[in-house]
Amino acid sequence: MLITKEIKEELNHLFFLLKLQDRNSNSPLSKQVKIEQVLAYLEIIHANLRKTSKRRKLVFIDSGAGNCYLSFLVYYFYHKIENREIEIHCIDYNKRLMHLNEKLAADMNFNNIFFHPVDIIDFSTDQKIDLIYSLHACDTATDKTMYLGIKSKAKIILSVACCQHSISMKPTSFKIVVRYKSFREKILMMISDTLRALLLEKNEYKVDIFDFVSSRYTEKNTMVRAIRTGFKKRIDAKKEYDILSKEFKMKPYLEKLLLETDK
Ligand SMILES: C[S@@+](CC[C@H](N)C(=O)[O-])C[C@H]1O[C@@H](n2cnc3c(N)ncnc32)[C@H](O)[C@@H]1O
Repeated sequence: MLITKEIKEELNHLFFLLKLQDRNSNSPLSKQVKIEQVLAYLEIIHANLRKTSKRRKLVFIDSGAGNCYLSFLVYYFYHKIENREIEIHCIDYNKRLMHLNEKLAADMNFNNIFFHPVDIIDFSTDQKIDLIYSLHACDTATDKTMYLGIKSKAKIILSVACCQHSISMKPTSFKIVVRYKSFREKILMMISDTLRALLLEKNEYKVDIFDFVSSRYTEKNTMVRAIRTGFKKRIDAKKEYDILSKEFKMKPYLEKLLLETDK
């Protein structure tokens, strides 16, 4: 367990500054749930990065950052608790949120966290990226996050998708199952994330998919974790992608983005 009772107590002040808690560490349910999500996400991040050399700077991207709760927590954890040099780039096309967070970071003397009011697809960097992460980035933002990760050869891509409005599915053999709304959404998530995982595998990543937090804290709790290996491990990823995509008549936006780069 990474987040000990002592660390959690230390974090109470940060959560107060982020308006996730009041001075007595109380908060409404929606905010308690967000705290649990970001703490669980931080545990996964640190589990994947704790073995990297402490002598070098970590560079992270938060894609579809919104209120940037996760990034403020990650920054605080590495900078103040782990005493590591860290740089975080938060991207969100919501200019108002990015400017508010920029001011908050300045007030907290968080000098190495940057806010980019742009579409994820328009962000680029020459830096070596250790990690790109997204939490509940809506719709095609999940695809754009993965694309940015692949394009920048990020070592690790972590993604938890949200709504999937732009993806449609025309199932053949699952017709009877997907007429029930709950199952339709679950299958949509399962197939779309599997297709994305196969595209990541084709692009030299090793992928696994798991629940990052209890479903008590969000139903959208499926995390795709991709770790760059630098070689195509599974030669049949393309074949599997074609079969699945054809069966469900589904194409995630990531396919289109990758095709455009290949041109
Ligand atoms: C549901 S919020 C999640 C915010 C935050 N990650 C969290 O978990 O609290 C999704 C955010 O993604 C941003 N977003 C969606 N598509 C985007 C895109 N293409 N480029 C930049 N930001 C995007 C929205 O503006 C919104 O702030």
